[in-house]
Amino acid sequence: MKARITVLPGDGVGPEVTSEAVACLASVAERFGHQFTFQEALIGGAAVDATGDPLPEATLDLCRSADAVLLGAVGGPAWDGHARDQRPESGLLRLRKGLGLFANLRPVTVHPALEDASPLKAEVVRGTDLMFVRELSGGLYFGEPRSYSDQAAVNTLPYTRAEIERVARVAFELAGSRRRNLVSVDKANVLETSRLWRQVVNDLAPSYPEVKVQHHYVDSFAMALITRPRDFDVVLTENLFGDILSDEAAVLAGSLGMLPSASLGGSVGLYEPIHGSAPDIAGQDVANPIGTILSAAMLLRHALNLKDEALALEQAVHRVVKAGHGTGDLRGGAKYIHGTRFMGARIREAIRPPRATAPRLVDSAYSFCGSPEGHRSQL
Ligand code: IPM
Ligand code: MN
Repeated sequence: MKARITVLPGDGVGPEVTSEAVACLASVAERFGHQFTFQEALIGGAAVDATGDPLPEATLDLCRSADAVLLGAVGGPAWDGHARDQRPESGLLRLRKGLGLFANLRPVTVHPALEDASPLKAEVVRGTDLMFVRELSGGLYFGEPRSYSDQAAVNTLPYTRAEIERVARVAFELAGSRRRNLVSVDKANVLETSRLWRQVVNDLAPSYPEVKVQHHYVDSFAMALITRPRDFDVVLTENLFGDILSDEAAVLAGSLGMLPSASLGGSVGLYEPIHGSAPDIAGQDVANPIGTILSAAMLLRHALNLKDEALALEQAVHRVVKAGHGTGDLRGGAKYIHGTRFMGARIREAIRPPRATAPRLVDSAYSFCGSPEGHRSQL
């Protein structure tokens, strides 16, 4: 098949990790006989420096006309003092909103070879297989009114029933295709928005009788997540809770650098690692490219409906990690420590047609977002 992929390297380690992921996609295309074309565009601090705007119109256009968007990371100390709309992060938020992406899928699995890379006990993290569904277009990130002065500042946490329902449906459907266990996270003992969130989830539950639903307050869930992670399957959260809890969950996987994400809901999906731009290690060939490479695998599955190709890439990562290879962030787990480029090259060498019986590494096939047409017809 032919596919057009827009690549947004961004800031910090973004360019290094995206270039490994793009090379992996190119290897997949070559081995499976596809034609992928890649077009780069500016976002974040790099875009601010070049154009004065963290999301130039040309970038948004290139994303809208692509089959999928692969992004590295945005942000860095150089832009910390900038006004909000001149900050790299506001480019990413406008991109998510502009593409209509309301469901952010963040799978968290613990590779058996990396149980000791986590500061938690191996017997606690072993076998963890979670899927966060984070609401991505609402809540505190976008709520109005908002204001700032040096004496008082305001942010607002609004959600409508429709906004909650559409992301909750994604979580219910995913749970149905996995272990049929859904945890909805809220703070309904304090927040009105959370009371509505809980109500909407309860109203939907009878439509998914096979899925067991539990509600957790965010504070106690933060503790349960790292004390008994195996008890959970799909975790549904509002925007900020999901941001915080998914970074916390990265401790289970051994490193933030391992985790991919897919942002869905509009006609074009966005695929990015959950880590930030890590300016302290940028340009040194030490960043972990796996989160971005696994995001590219999610792109193959969700945007292009190429399931065997997605699996082939995930299994390549799996084999390389199993053989003991990793970047410095995995010290304590990985036996051999390598640079970003070496890891990327190792993973590309390991790409081959998938074995039907191999373990699922990242996310289950998900019919709701199996193809761009799939999105549109179901939303
Ligand atoms: C993430 C990041 C972003 C977020 C930032 C960079 C705006 O932390 O994708 O988790 O808060 O959503
Ligand atoms: Mn985050």
